[in-house]
Amino acid sequence: MSPLRVLQVGAGGMGRAWLATVAADPEVELVGIVDLDLDAARAGAEHAGDPSIPVGTDLTVLAAETGAEAVLDITVPVAHHPVTLQALRAGLPVLGEKPAAQTVAEALSLAAAAEATGKLFMVSQSRRYNDQLVAFRQHVRDLGAVGGLSTRFAKAPHFGGFREEMDDVLLLDMAIHAFDSARYVLERDPVSVYCESWNPSWSWYRGDAAAAAVFTFEDDIRYVYDGSWCAPGAETSWNGDWRASGAAGTALWDGDHDPSSDLDGTPGSPAAAPSVGHEIAGSLASFVRAVRSGGTPDGEVHGNVMSLTMVDAAITSARSGRRVVIDEVLEQAHRDALAAEQDETIRDRLAAWDSVRGALRERLPTS
Ligand SMILES: NC(=O)c1ccc[n+]([C@@H]2O[C@H](COP(=O)([O-])OP(=O)(O)OC[C@H]3O[C@@H](n4cnc5c(N)ncnc54)[C@H](O)[C@@H]3O)[C@@H](O)[C@H]2O)c1
Repeated sequence: MSPLRVLQVGAGGMGRAWLATVAADPEVELVGIVDLDLDAARAGAEHAGDPSIPVGTDLTVLAAETGAEAVLDITVPVAHHPVTLQALRAGLPVLGEKPAAQTVAEALSLAAAAEATGKLFMVSQSRRYNDQLVAFRQHVRDLGAVGGLSTRFAKAPHFGGFREEMDDVLLLDMAIHAFDSARYVLERDPVSVYCESWNPSWSWYRGDAAAAAVFTFEDDIRYVYDGSWCAPGAETSWNGDWRASGAAGTALWDGDHDPSSDLDGTPGSPAAAPSVGHEIAGSLASFVRAVRSGGTPDGEVHGNVMSLTMVDAAITSARSGRRVVIDEVLEQAHRDALAAEQDETIRDRLAAWDSVRGALRERLPTS
């Protein structure tokens, strides 16, 4: 089968990582690069190893000129809604960087746009593509009834740039990975959250760089997140340090090495699971398979919205000092999406949803 012809939109820092990943995957062929900054697009073509790759500032025009079959949206979060919508309207499936959109309301609008156009929109939640995480879930499955799952995340990076200036930097930019992995490991969705966030006196971030959140998940399971981005010394891995506690024992994962479990004194040895590939290379491979098979991949927008909702609910809780119910956040976002929607077909799709949680569950992954 000939490689899938992809157009990449956004050639900044993460865009370069994607260009290298696309170049290394024989199942895809880069046919063009779009960026508002044409110099960045040209530099991206050089980085991809072929300065003659067509570049431009308009997705629809370059997609038509190059015969693109799919779009990679690697722009900044505020551009995810307009760029992805433009691609879906052009009849092209989209693989987009996390988060799905800047707000839950915009993410719901994109889920409805995917329904209205019949095209796939998959969010690349890259830390899901990790065979150690998959193995950790296998260990957790063998614990019987699970009572609690926790992640400790402690790093001290000096990024410079926008992260050091943004509000809620830890919850918005990093915690979504852990929240999304918690949903994956527990195979359940969140019900409510209580969260506090703060900024230690020595923090080099303007927004809150530390947060502690307690989520209640379905079946009364608790997920506890304790994270900091200004915690020098004895740092955890980038995936964080995980512990799950169940009726039959405990499972552990340090985020960097193979996970383990202790079933009342006996080491667990769960069934092996197929490889999911590694980070963005894994999500790209999954996207290509889904485009070709018509299946629903992990990360399809309906399934991914709940991870962004966990971030939104945690921030709302931290700001208000109260426990926040996830369905209330979803229903408010749905009202906001309906009020803001300019496209009649997409508004009709949104209006047809009986409940947001129900609509999001209608498209469960098939692979
Ligand atoms: N998965 C991960 O671990 C990970 C890590 C870093 C960044 N990211 C995500 O990747 C995305 C990109 O981040 P980045 O660090 O590359 O940002 P960046 O600012 O370095 O690059 C973004 C690029 O997109 C271009 N752009 C912005 N709006 C556009 C539009 N409407 N049309 C065309 N081009 C547009 C900009 O000109 C810029 O070149 C973000 O969503 C970020 O959250 C993910």
